[in-house]
Amino acid sequence: MSKLLLRALAGATLPVPPVWLMRQAGRYLPEYRATRAQAGDFLSLCYTPDLAAEVTLQPIRRFGFDAAILFADILLVPQALGADLWFETGEGPRLSTVTGPDDLAKLKGPDDIHDHLAPVYETVRILARELPSETTLIGFAGAPWTVATYMIAGRGTPDQGPAHALKRTDHATFVGLIDRITEATIGYLAAQVEAGAEVVKLFDSWAGSLKGPEFDFYALEPAKRIVTALKQRYPDLPVIVFPREAGSAYEGFARAVGADCIAIDTSVDAAWAAEHLQPETCVQGNLDPKLMVTGGEELVTEARRIRDALSNGPHIFNLGHGITPDADPENVTRLLEAIRT
Ligand code: CP3
Repeated sequence: MSKLLLRALAGATLPVPPVWLMRQAGRYLPEYRATRAQAGDFLSLCYTPDLAAEVTLQPIRRFGFDAAILFADILLVPQALGADLWFETGEGPRLSTVTGPDDLAKLKGPDDIHDHLAPVYETVRILARELPSETTLIGFAGAPWTVATYMIAGRGTPDQGPAHALKRTDHATFVGLIDRITEATIGYLAAQVEAGAEVVKLFDSWAGSLKGPEFDFYALEPAKRIVTALKQRYPDLPVIVFPREAGSAYEGFARAVGADCIAIDTSVDAAWAAEHLQPETCVQGNLDPKLMVTGGEELVTEARRIRDALSNGPHIFNLGHGITPDADPENVTRLLEAIRT
């Protein structure tokens, strides 16, 4: 097994950690903006396999990252389940809402999503053919809670209020929705693996707003169901989980759900992660995406601090969240130099 990322996921402590960045294909790259303009809009880009593969490959060509992440979006699954989805320019995603039993009943079954998602699987097949032999291909999906927060509110929300409210006022619909997304996600990720994804990552961006037992019910349990089902079919498939802003609940999460790597945000310290998370799993992430905008000596110092803090166990270098459109591509080059030398 020569791919660095796969070695780290298998538990190897490496002299130089593999590197990739969340949202590495995105608006900070002029070549991404050009291909997106060619596609017309973001969703057309996601559903045009040649172009989606092209933007996935762009950051690999430019920077030589150790992994490529499929270009798609976590909100394609709600759309495949029958929700309307569009993106308001400058604002973000909008969806038709699920607020009661009738809306839930109108959604498609978990096995009926694959025709809609076929272009995504085609993108994965192209990438599996075209990626350099040292680059690992990561597939992904949103975790049920995070996807549900968008489906219930019809948009991104600062505190996931509508989802928390539905959980209280119509528990059956809420749980039914989590369940539907969980089942669909298992099939979606399995199809990505069949198409050539070598690793899958589950993004639970809003896990941090679930507290106490609710974190276990709606972040941990669905992740465990998904990982268990995938590992039953593909025992050697490495899985990365990202229960963002889980805080102390990061500890034990990867082991409890059966994942191979935990991705961490910027709110926990790398030294804490080395002590509390690395003994049980590979750790990914942590660098503040703001440093990709501001750069300078601080970027180099901070990147090396994280690298060194996590150097005694399996580590994948990454940001604590996605790189932003105002990031300077030159800073990515500086980051890679700082980490690899
Ligand atoms: O990381 C990658 O390069 C792979 C592709 C990827 C995208 N979205 C492309 C994208 C991945 C892994 C995602 C995940 C995603 N999508 C998450 C989870 C991770 C996170 O960021 O917390 C969430 C919550 C979404 C939902 C979503 N998609 C939002 C809220 C937005 C709007 C915000 C924004 O940045 O404009 C998107 C759009 C989106 N997804 C873009 C990209 C590159 C920007 C679209 C554009 O080109 O205008």
